[in-house]
Amino acid sequence: MYFSGTYFFNFRNLCEGRREWSPAFNLITGPNGAGKTNFLEGLNILSGWGPFDGKVKISSLVKWGNESSSLWGRIRGEESADISANLGSRCALKRDGKTAGASETRRRMPVLSFMPRHMSLIKGGSSCRRQLLDRIGVLVSVPYARILHDYRTVLRQKSAMLRKMRDPRPADRVLAPLGSWLWSAREEIIRMLSGEMDNFPGLLPRSFSFFFQRGGGGVRENASDDFRISLEGMRDKERYSRTPLVGPQRDDVKFMCGGVEASAALSRGQSRKVVSALILASSLAVERRLGKKPVLLFDEITSELDESGKASSAEAILRTGCQIFAATADSIDHRGVEIHRMRDGRFL
Ligand SMILES: Nc1ncnc2c1ncn2[C@@H]1O[C@H](COP(=O)(O)OP(=O)(O)O)[C@@H](O)[C@H]1O
Ligand SMILES: [Mg+2]
Repeated sequence: MYFSGTYFFNFRNLCEGRREWSPAFNLITGPNGAGKTNFLEGLNILSGWGPFDGKVKISSLVKWGNESSSLWGRIRGEESADISANLGSRCALKRDGKTAGASETRRRMPVLSFMPRHMSLIKGGSSCRRQLLDRIGVLVSVPYARILHDYRTVLRQKSAMLRKMRDPRPADRVLAPLGSWLWSAREEIIRMLSGEMDNFPGLLPRSFSFFFQRGGGGVRENASDDFRISLEGMRDKERYSRTPLVGPQRDDVKFMCGGVEASAALSRGQSRKVVSALILASSLAVERRLGKKPVLLFDEITSELDESGKASSAEAILRTGCQIFAATADSIDHRGVEIHRMRDGRFL
């Protein structure tokens, strides 16, 4: 599926305007502050994912000095629809004029977005690895978003209990089935990604592998037994540290290269290539599960890449056949890439 056209009104610094898009590779270039990231964020919102920073107020997305903003996008491909988002104090999504929920919108128009922080999937902290698993999970599994939301709600309650030195076991009884469900779901996502990574041998170093690590678990194969037994084993530690130590909030993905952790073994350039392969594998996994090609958003796509790196990334991304919106301050000169220049919030 792809966005054939968009119309944004009063959104951040973007000037009002309609734009048609290539179903293949759209490269948005312009100087810093032009509005490239804002445009990608508009697409992220239209596809049900909300602002890039989940903590910002919806009202701060409206162009300063205005009351409300609206976004509109026309979808073509496996399905056709017009989607819109009205932003005021909250975000109201519509599909062909009818109110649409965010979770339905996300699965009907799958979009994966990759920010500069994803470039540190190998070398950075674990939260961006969990975030990638969650984004895929929400797309490929209907209950994922609800279970993750419920888990986080009860986890906050457990944290409060531990801080107040109260017995957390009532919260644990609710957390255990939710947490072990998430463990199994994330393990399944890792299996899917491993399978798809085989499609990109050229991007991977020799003897590269990765596996899922259950946060604070790993003493039993079966996820619910593991959760229960690990909780019992960590009971005292949790009491002393006053923090929940078992569960998906501490999950990680370990990348290995010849028996050594990839973060130590790989150069920056090599890990960039592995990240590219992970991104491409994610899009294939989503496509296989949903039967629709996701739209891929990339912010600052060329950062840290030399000319040959830019060309091979563009080539690999083009081969997915997905619609791409990629933002960069420099340019990529590559066959099949449609260039959209912008400046001061306006497409030229
Ligand atoms: N609600 C808003 N109203 C008007 N301008 C905004 C709003 N939010 C952000 N901006 C402006 O948008 C610009 C940043 O755009 P951005 O998309 O991040 O640029 P870049 O092209 O570098 O990715 C900044 O100048 C910022 O001040
Ligand atoms: Mg930017």
